[in-house]
Amino acid sequence: MGYREVYEGWKADPEGFWMEAAQAIDWVEAPKQALFDRGDHMYEWFAEAKVNTCWNAVDRHVEQGRGEQTAIIYDSPITHTKREISYVELRNRVANLAGALRAKGVEKGDRVIIYMPMIPEALEAMLACARLGAIHSVVFGGFASNELAVRIDDAKPKAIIAASCGMEPGRVVHYKPLLDGAIEMAEHKPDFCVIFQREQEVAELKEGRDVNWHGFQFGVKPAECVPVEGNHPAYILYTSGTTGQPKGVVRPTAGHLVALNWTMKNIYNVDPGEVFWAASDVGWVVGHSYICYGPLIAGNTTIVFEGKPVGTPDAGTFWRVIEEHDVKSFFTAPTAFRAVKREDPKGEFVKKYDLSGLRAIYLAGERADPDTIEWTQKMTGKPVYDHWWQTETGYTIAGNPVGIEPLPVKLGSPTVAMPGYDVQILDEGGNQMAPGELGAIAVKLPLPPGTLPTLWNAEDRFKKSYLTTFPGYYETGDAGMIDEDGYLYIMARTDDVINVAGHRLSTGGMEEVLASHPDVAECAVIGISDELKGQLPVGFLCLSSGVDRPHDEIAKECVKLVRDRIGPVAAFKLAVVVDRLPKTRSGKILRGTMVSIADGKEFKMPATIDDPAILDEIRDALQTIGYPKG
Ligand code: COA
Ligand code: AMP
Repeated sequence: MGYREVYEGWKADPEGFWMEAAQAIDWVEAPKQALFDRGDHMYEWFAEAKVNTCWNAVDRHVEQGRGEQTAIIYDSPITHTKREISYVELRNRVANLAGALRAKGVEKGDRVIIYMPMIPEALEAMLACARLGAIHSVVFGGFASNELAVRIDDAKPKAIIAASCGMEPGRVVHYKPLLDGAIEMAEHKPDFCVIFQREQEVAELKEGRDVNWHGFQFGVKPAECVPVEGNHPAYILYTSGTTGQPKGVVRPTAGHLVALNWTMKNIYNVDPGEVFWAASDVGWVVGHSYICYGPLIAGNTTIVFEGKPVGTPDAGTFWRVIEEHDVKSFFTAPTAFRAVKREDPKGEFVKKYDLSGLRAIYLAGERADPDTIEWTQKMTGKPVYDHWWQTETGYTIAGNPVGIEPLPVKLGSPTVAMPGYDVQILDEGGNQMAPGELGAIAVKLPLPPGTLPTLWNAEDRFKKSYLTTFPGYYETGDAGMIDEDGYLYIMARTDDVINVAGHRLSTGGMEEVLASHPDVAECAVIGISDELKGQLPVGFLCLSSGVDRPHDEIAKECVKLVRDRIGPVAAFKLAVVVDRLPKTRSGKILRGTMVSIADGKEFKMPATIDDPAILDEIRDALQTIGYPKG
């Protein structure tokens, strides 16, 4: 069957499609019903089945004779370490860790925050939670104490599992002080913290609260897999929305298992036993779905890569890992290839390695620009497939169904809607638009299994954020179009989310931080185009009257404030002082126009602008920081 038949087959009988996919999962109680309509456009999948994620990702492979197969390859050019963990070792390590967590009181439904770098123990911590039916929430290591504190207060974890440190090129990221700071800031306090002491830095433990990863597992009884209901949350992953308060995306257990397993063959075209590598971070959804769960559920070998595309030690790192571990499918963000291309435009490093085992390269997380795709294709001789998805969905909305039938690539398009997703382009009134017309991208409800059923503790916000604008549809927050052949094009976000090096960030969140500076009366943050990172945030600051300090100094303080409060990952390094912000007569800041000026693009003067002269001031201010480029 080709893609068309599979897609039409799904459309004709969505429940039958997913019931069939569900057969690849080991159930404690198999689903009798696929979809549950909870009213008010809310849905759940496989709600009444019983299952355990860890069993499916780990134990069942041991039972089925894959015990000796490598489950996780840890390759860390940044610490010069390599290690392999077989499925049977992984099972034993995870069962012990889960046993120790249980001995300290962690049970099904309890939340556990995980604050760890790219080490196998991060995956083990996730799987140990899944084993117990505890709900993990991984927080990216590049986030500052304040962001961690916000997540602690929202998730209210019984425990936090952290490492002593992370490693970034040229510096050690001291996790422990960040963790201590966050707990101090948060109103909710965890019962205990488990600290994995890395060789690179041994952190001081707080008596009565912190336990050592190894020490607390001593002599405990390994835990078995606890069956949970299909709609039990497997995890919460916080992602950026319009405000500084992140959205806690809930991932339902059964749908997650069924859908991720389906994608491994049909999208990534790997069979059990083969090596799959996603070069991302466990702190992001790509890391959850395709460093941890997807490959393990499907019986693949996954790679935990602690390094960067360049500088660890050079632009050949990706190719080295692919050759050395015989990677069949490789997934990363376009920004990573832009970094490699910048260092090695002629692909000298590519030639040094044997990539014959690699079948294809997959890109997601941000717009894949045609230059980057073409360069990567040319240098590697491999097909490069863009695919589009979000933290909310957890896997591909639109992609190239390579395991079913590779479709011709159209540069600039992530290809077509996957089974499960009825993707439509809507105008402001919610009417379907013609092929080639630009509009809001929406998905007809219900969303498929594994996608978010709600936001953690925030059902109203869930409805307002995703279901209200277009009744009967899920609003993706992206704008774009579909061409005559059904190929989708993602053009821009419709909200204040920007994408910096594949990292999703909220300009609204940054504005909240800037506004807290005592000298700042008003501010705006926009995302401007950047050759390497796709977008970069720039802050415009209007000072309170009477402030008479050097503007540079204030701008520097603001940069530091964002780094301290959100984290280095925000990459907020550009701030300028302006007298006023361009607004419409009704007071809305004209962010889009500011972006056009910064990018040096033509734009139409907004008809509702209050005072066009302000745009010249914005242009002058941008020039002081070197924009537009060139
Ligand atoms: N822990 C602590 N700090 C981190 C971090 C982590 N896990 N990840 C990034 N940071 C820090 C970096 O050290 C950097 O700090 P600096 O301002 O002191 O230099 C800052 O956050 C910005 O990081 P990043 O955006 O990663 O930029 P970079 O300049 O270090 O590297 C790339 C640029 C393109 C090489 C890098 O962004 C990259 O590999 N991107 C791949 C994207 C990706 O994996 N996206 C995930 C979604 S698929
Ligand atoms: P995240 O939730 O961090 O995965 O970010 C999701 C957002 O990143 C999407 O809503 C898009 O705006 C953007 N994005 C992800 N993948 C792509 C892609 N292939 N092309 C264009 N934009 C993408």
